[in-house]
Amino acid sequence: MGSLFVVKVNIARGANLVGGSSGGDFVQEVRAAAGIDRLIGEYVSLKTSGRKLKGLCPFHDEKTPSFTVDPEKGLFYCFGCQVGGDVFKFYMLHENAQFPDALRELAQRFGVPIPQHRGGSSGEQTRLREMHREAAAFFRSSLASGAGATASRYLARRGLDTDTVQHLKIGYAPDSWDALKSRLRQAGYREEELLKAGLTVPRKDGRGSYDRFRDRLMFPIEQAGGGVIGFGGRILGEGEPKYLNSPETPLFQKGRHFYGLSWSRDAIREADRVIIVEGYTDFASLWQAGVRNVVAVLGTSFTPEHARLLARYTHRAVINFDADRAGRSAADRAVTVLMEHDFELRVLELPDGQDPDGHVRAAGAEAYLKLAAGAPSFIEYVISSACAGRDITTPEAKAQAVADILPRLADLNNRVLLAAAMARIAQRLDLKEADLRAEFRRVAPALRRGEAPPAPARPRPARNCSLAERQLMHLLLTCSDVRREVAGTAREEELRDLPAGHIIMVLLDQERAGHEVTVEGLQALLEKEDQARLLAAVMEDFPGLVAADWKESWHIIQKENLEKESRILQRQLTQSMEEGGDTTDVERLLRRKLEVRRLIETL
Ligand code: CTP
Ligand code: MN
Repeated sequence: MGSLFVVKVNIARGANLVGGSSGGDFVQEVRAAAGIDRLIGEYVSLKTSGRKLKGLCPFHDEKTPSFTVDPEKGLFYCFGCQVGGDVFKFYMLHENAQFPDALRELAQRFGVPIPQHRGGSSGEQTRLREMHREAAAFFRSSLASGAGATASRYLARRGLDTDTVQHLKIGYAPDSWDALKSRLRQAGYREEELLKAGLTVPRKDGRGSYDRFRDRLMFPIEQAGGGVIGFGGRILGEGEPKYLNSPETPLFQKGRHFYGLSWSRDAIREADRVIIVEGYTDFASLWQAGVRNVVAVLGTSFTPEHARLLARYTHRAVINFDADRAGRSAADRAVTVLMEHDFELRVLELPDGQDPDGHVRAAGAEAYLKLAAGAPSFIEYVISSACAGRDITTPEAKAQAVADILPRLADLNNRVLLAAAMARIAQRLDLKEADLRAEFRRVAPALRRGEAPPAPARPRPARNCSLAERQLMHLLLTCSDVRREVAGTAREEELRDLPAGHIIMVLLDQERAGHEVTVEGLQALLEKEDQARLLAAVMEDFPGLVAADWKESWHIIQKENLEKESRILQRQLTQSMEEGGDTTDVERLLRRKLEVRRLIETL
């Protein structure tokens, strides 16, 4: 968020600076370049009426035009709903954009160089844009030509019809090293410009460049407001890479654009919901089937800029990525980012691992939309993914599931949603809601700071305490002298791995803090299982056990610890040698193992 803010400030400030230094106010330049009748004419069908233009207001429902544009004054006004303003106001209202974004986008759209970009190559953006438009036209004509026959057959095989191909401006890059290049050179673009646009790739010997896209089906990528800024090129049939995309250029950054948004914005706004898919073909097939409120991410992870862009049109989204591992983790990322931007989310996974393209072609739009409408909400999705592969009837698995779920709720700042989420998790995992809330309160602050949650609240697996541990616990609880001595000598690493380790550590902490150590007091600090262990140890009879025996118990425990370490080292050694591991590794393990054996003998 911070960096976005800085960009905005720079642009605004840049505008003033330019206004002073180069004589032309940047804002004025954009206002003039956009031209109110020109810009609004792209959204509203306008008819001349005297010196003004009239049309149906895009901001409210009406049958007779009361929306008026005055090109001379550079203003618009609706007599029906009383909204009005200049060209920026119109764009901000229509695109739900803030002023700095409106300014930047209109500048880009109408070819006014943004102050930061000035100095170097004035008009670079405009030329890049025109070059992309030219390239897209070239790809389209080559799809229609004889050279595009195979590509056309490929499209037909994939079930994409000519309407879709035309609307999405799909084309074909011919199987040539320089077909596009020579076309663009003829049109007057320089070699460096082609390279900058990512349309060609430099030769290894550094002399010149050749076409990046060859023998591929070309999907033009447009920015939200229209205008080609990059391409995705699919290989015809099998082969690697399946998709070749434009590199990052001054026009195109994957993390800032969606494929399809320029065609789907109105539908998204109308449906007040966006369906987010992964692939070009997913978008194309859904589009063709009549599902229009869709965008595709460009094979990249979801960014806050993506969320901000979508937030202009809706705050409700259905994430429909592939049901494979990559797709799931991409969906997780999108969920997290969109949650942070207050989206209401559903996560759709299609049956049998189908992608949206495959599904909609097989089952049709109606079936698809039905699944989308019934897709689990964000919270159901989070619970289901945390439960997947776990037997959540066991306490351990429940605790693990909770540990997976809570971090994903930590940033939820909607209390109503959070309360509903807690209730639902408690229900699905069969937990007490109060326990769950307590756990959330315990871990949330750290999670919000982006830190690991404090000490594991998950129950350790039920392991039995050895006789020595039980005796030591017994003595610690019954003799204050023993407590004092042990508190003075025992170190955490000597206790950590023991079944009774946590109990003893808590007890010693109390002792060291000068608190009275009582069974009741400790019970309050321990989880259920440990409470039971502690009670058992207090109640157990150890005939002939006296206070001084703590040393013997402590010895045995240390010996048990060391023996365990020795067994682990042996396992690691065997493994390391079998795998032909690093000799220094083997040596290190061997040295430690000998040391451990010696320690055991001296005990
Ligand atoms: N992608 C990419 N580069 C690749 C593979 C994938 O950029 N080498 C991106 C593309 O945007 C692609 C999306 O990731 O559309 C999803 O990939 P995948 O599911 O493999 O492709 P599909 O869109 O399903 O393509 P198709 O149906 O043509 O196989
Ligand atoms: Mn596919």
